[in-house]
Parts: sequence; structure tokens; C-alpha cells
Amino acid sequence: MLYGADYNPDQWPEDVWDEDVRLMQEAGVNIVSLGIFAWSRIQPAEDVWDFDWLDTVIGKLHAGGIGVNLATATASPPPWVSATYPETLPADESGASYWPGSRQHFAPSSPTYRRLAGELVRRLAERYAHHPAVIMWHVGNEFGCHLPMDFSDAARDAYRVWLRDKYATIDALNGAWGTSFWSQRYGSFDEIFPPRLAPYSHNPSSMLDFRRFTSDMLLECYLMERAILHEAGAAQPITTNFMGPFKPADYRRWAPFMDVIADDCYPDPSNPHRVRDAAFQRDLVRSLKPGVPWLLWEQATDAVNWRPSNPGKRPGALIAETAQSIARGADGIMFFQWRQSRAGSEKFHSAMLPHAGTETRVWNAVTELGARLAALPELPAPGRDARVALVFDWEAWWAVEERDHPTEIDYLALVLEWYGGFHARNIQVDIVGPEEVDAGYDLVVAPALYLLRDEGAAALARFVDGGGILLAGPFTDIVDEHDQFRSGGFVTQLAPVLGVRFEDFGALGGVSTGGAGVGALSPHAAQAARATGAAATVTFGLDGASLCGRLVAERVHAVDATVVASFETGLTAGSPALTRHPHGSGEGWYVATQPVAAGLDAVVATVIEASGVRPVVAGLPAGVEAARRGDLVTLINHGDVRVEIAIEGIDAETGAPVERVALESQGVAFVHAPAAASEPARKTEPFVAERSEASIATAGIPAR
Ligand code: GLA
Repeated sequence: MLYGADYNPDQWPEDVWDEDVRLMQEAGVNIVSLGIFAWSRIQPAEDVWDFDWLDTVIGKLHAGGIGVNLATATASPPPWVSATYPETLPADESGASYWPGSRQHFAPSSPTYRRLAGELVRRLAERYAHHPAVIMWHVGNEFGCHLPMDFSDAARDAYRVWLRDKYATIDALNGAWGTSFWSQRYGSFDEIFPPRLAPYSHNPSSMLDFRRFTSDMLLECYLMERAILHEAGAAQPITTNFMGPFKPADYRRWAPFMDVIADDCYPDPSNPHRVRDAAFQRDLVRSLKPGVPWLLWEQATDAVNWRPSNPGKRPGALIAETAQSIARGADGIMFFQWRQSRAGSEKFHSAMLPHAGTETRVWNAVTELGARLAALPELPAPGRDARVALVFDWEAWWAVEERDHPTEIDYLALVLEWYGGFHARNIQVDIVGPEEVDAGYDLVVAPALYLLRDEGAAALARFVDGGGILLAGPFTDIVDEHDQFRSGGFVTQLAPVLGVRFEDFGALGGVSTGGAGVGALSPHAAQAARATGAAATVTFGLDGASLCGRLVAERVHAVDATVVASFETGLTAGSPALTRHPHGSGEGWYVATQPVAAGLDAVVATVIEASGVRPVVAGLPAGVEAARRGDLVTLINHGDVRVEIAIEGIDAETGAPVERVALESQGVAFVHAPAAASEPARKTEPFVAERSEASIATAGIPAR
């Protein structure tokens, strides 16, 4: 189990470094991410390099038995880079430059930025690739954080190249983007710009490609650095830190290039859904590399500095949150950062070693956690324990949140609602792309899978054919990979599986925010209107109960499906709200609204019953979370009161047999409890979905 933090000794005088190592040992730290923002210290001017301090720090850490995850330090170019090479600066939609003075002020597609960053990485790699202290490499930092899109001239030039690589001919691009609409037909790739500030909506197909391009440019930066590390002989694992469901970067496309997935997760103490949301994030990153443990690369020991109000964690929450990561596949627990900064934007951010010193609640919690982790036995690899998959797809996310749709959809919020239906029951879920759905699952839920690629549709159909239960909808299977309607209406790919014909969308309305056109509310007023949320709902009847849906009440016809629930109110009253349809050896279900609260719970309960999937541990008290990792069951009491839970197994920390465990509020138990023999193992070997693996010449990224 790795335990440690970001370590920024360049912010401190040398006489602090020995104390750092001593206290790291006291806390049980065995790894630090070193020098993530140290570029200006390593290369104070273009032709000046200073590695002496880094040699010293790495030497001290090594002598202290602390492993180094060495950063490539490329996330914050020094002032001389921006002053000498302004073309490295990114730009916003209007073309205005982002200026230096913070961090991440680089255009990912700038050849000059890449040349300078590459030179830094090369020197670091040549110097430290064979250093025994260096056990991992940390490339860049949180790629895309702060700057989700760059509209600079560097982006413009690279975008044209990227599009030429993708489409080869301008006619192909015109076809994919549907440029006959509004006189947008391009004569050559040189006429194309990033989607900069325009009078009205950009072409949605072009927006989708620009998002793909943006994710790829960030990935290219990572791949460039990784290639340099390899060239210099670095044999250590190489990774960068993900941010869970982070919209700008399609991590599923990145994952094959990470030797290990590393993730930063900062649950908001004020978010009533923080346990659910963090569980989703951890399940997502685990699912990116099935069977391989991931690393929690950053969490906070206590308060952060970047929310409007930053409360600390409640007593015990640090262990409870950490246990949630371990339960869901993590083999490393790290923090931002080791020693609290005394200057700069993050001086109020908590750290392992608080500015107030070691006689603090936080230091006690940190040392207690270090001791507990050190005592844990080796953990089983996170297997593919889940029998339920929730489809979550970046391209669908990008496309479904474009404007000019029947209704605005917050895709992540909607997916989290579905996830919550399973999380609340302690049913383990993998978070997968549609192409990754395979016969090992019993139940697959695909909400708002608005953009559905051919391969994804084929995998979902194969899954049902083979005996699985698919719950699709609402707003699923509407467009192809270019964000264009397919011929023959909507829900075309899944129609045979679902046995329905989709007629129209039935947006429910609510507070009008006026879109973005003439008469629109200001973004602030629109947000406020959404937050007060007088959005209309619809009711549907299921098993004698009248339940609620939101967003849409789609008009769907049951062709050969059975109607399980019908709308009771609204324009679609009397038409199907929930259908089921036998197909192959399985069943396709369709839900025509976004059920809320009891409605969502009832729909989830219905498909759980139909599929026979079971919780990790049944009948747990409210607030107790359970997750399985091979034969290890982790129980976490997020509630306020002490609970007792019947579970037979071996306490993983003490080795003692248990029949019951008692958990105080925030208490955690790790119990070896193999799945009951009555729970069959995965039915088949994982199916490997077919995907185009042709390469983009520049970076070896699989083509779309
Ligand atoms: C991110 C960054 C860190 C730091 C923390 C603060 O995770 O990677 O450098 O800024 O946020 O929470």
C-alpha cells in the first residue's frame, strides 16, 4: 500500500528537508510525488539548469527509505517561457490570451511549448531514470484542469492537421458535419477555425470534433513526455493524475497509456451526495483498467481552499473516505500535499503536515491512517466483481450537453442518479463505455446515451442476445458518432432489442431560461432559475404506485414490447413509460422519462428483480456502504450512529474470525468473506469489444 503526498520542497528552505523526511517516516509515508510545479526552479532561464537541489532532496528521501514519484514538472511553465515565447499561451473563445501568473497557462498544441517541455523531461529522464529512489513518473499534472479548451492559433493549426488526419478529404468533413446547413460548407481545411466566439450556436458536429481534438491534444502532451521517458530508459511505471468524471478528457481513451490509473478525488463535505458521488468516481477509475489496482493520487486531509466555503472533514471521515477507495480498488493513498504551503493560492489548503504543526487533529489522523494502512495485509486484485454495468460515455456526454436540444441535460447528474439507485442498495457497479458491455454482466443501464456508436450498439445488442438485461433511456440512441440523426427515426440501433418505436421527445419544460439567443437570461440568472428548479414533472403508474419523472415524457410505442408502466399525466398520458421486451436469451427495457426519487427507486428495483442481481451484503442499516474486492468485503458506516452487522469471515486486519462487526460512526471493517457459492462467478470470459485501432501518425493514439 503506497502512502504519501505531493512534495514541494522547492517552496521551503533546505533546513526544512531533514525534518520533512523524519516526519514522513513518523507518518508512515513511503512515496512522494516530487516537484510537480518545480520547472522554474529546475530551469530558471532558458540556458540555466539547476539539478543540485533535486539531487539533494532525492538523496535525502532515498536515505530515508521514501520512494519518489518524480514529476516531469511541465504543468506550469516559468515566466521566461511566456515572456520569450508568447505563442505558448492558450486563448479563450474570443481569442484573448490567458496570461501567466497562475498555472497551466500553456497551449497543449503549441509546438514551442512541447519543445520546451520535452527538453525539460529529457533532462530529468536522463538524470534520474536509473536513480534507485525513483519508483514512478508523474507526467504533467491534471491535464486540462482549469483550461478545458484552448482556442489559440496553435490550436487552430493543430486542429486543421487533426481534421485532415481524420477525414482525409474536405468533402468527408462536410458530410460528417452536415455543413449544407446554414451555408457552412468548407472549401479546404485551411478555412476551419476552432469554435471561437460566434453570434449563435456552433455546428454541433464540429463542437463534438473539437472536444475530441482537445482531449487528444492533452493526451498527445502526455504521450510525448512518456515517449521521452522511455527513450531515456525509464522503466518505472508512468502515469498522470485523472480527475474522475472530468468532461474535457476522455479517460477511457487515455487509460491504455497509463501504466497504472491515478486519480484525484476531493469529496465536498457540504454535498449531501458526497458518498455516492465519490463511490461513482472510484468505480469509474477502477473500471478503466479492470483487474488492476489504481492509486488515489490526491485527496485532502481536511479542508480545501477552492470552494466558496471550505469546511473540514468530520472526525473519522478521513479513514472512511480512504476505505472507500481501497474497497473500490485503490492500492495507494496519497494527499495534496505533504507540508502546507506558507505562500501562494493554496496556503489555506490542508496538508499531511499542517502549518500549525504536529500537535493537531490532522497530524494525528494522518499518522493513525498511516499505521492502519501499513498493517493491512496484501489486498486481492480488484476483480470484475460487478454484475451490473452503468454506461457512461464521454462522447455521449459532450454531445448530449450541446445546446439546441429538446431539453437541457446535466449528463453527469443524471448518470449519478441512476448510480445512486444501486449504490444505496450496495449493489456493485462497473462504469463502462457501451463497447465494453459484455456477457459477464447480468444487468446494464444506459441512460441518456444520446450518441451511440455502431460498435456500442452492437455490443449492447449482443449482450441482450446472450441473456443480459438492458435498461435503456431516456434520450438514448438518438444520433450517430457525428451527432447526426440516423435514417429511419430515433432509437434505430436498439429498436430490435427494445421492441419499441420512438416518436418524439416530450420535453417537460419548467422554468424557461430563454436558451442562449435573443431574450435569453444572463448565464447567472439562468443558473439561478435552474437551481430553484420549478421544472415540470410527469407521473407514471408502476405496480399500483403513482411515481414521478422529470426532463422528458417521450412518446414511445410498444411494437412488440410489453408495457410495464404508463404515463398518467401530461401530453403523453396513456403511452408507455417503461417497457420490457424479450430478445434472444435476454430482455431489452426502455424507460421514457428520467424517474426521480421513489420513481427511480421503483424502476431500479424492478430491473434488479428481473435480473436477479444481489447486493454485496444484504440488509445493511442505512448509511452503511459495502463493496467487494475479490474476497475482501469493506464495510463503512457513514451514518451517525453505531451499528452492528452480521457478516461471517476473517477480519483482514486482525486475522480473527468474525460473525458480527460493530461500527461506530465513520467506522470501517475489512473482512475476508468470499462470495457465497450461490453467487455464480462471471458467466463468461470478458468480451473484448471491436474498436478501430488504426493510429494517428503523430501520437499513436487509436483513431476514432
Ligand atoms: C489539484 C492539483 C493540486 C492542488 C490540489 C488542491 O488536485 O493537482 O496541485 O492544486 O488540486 O486541491
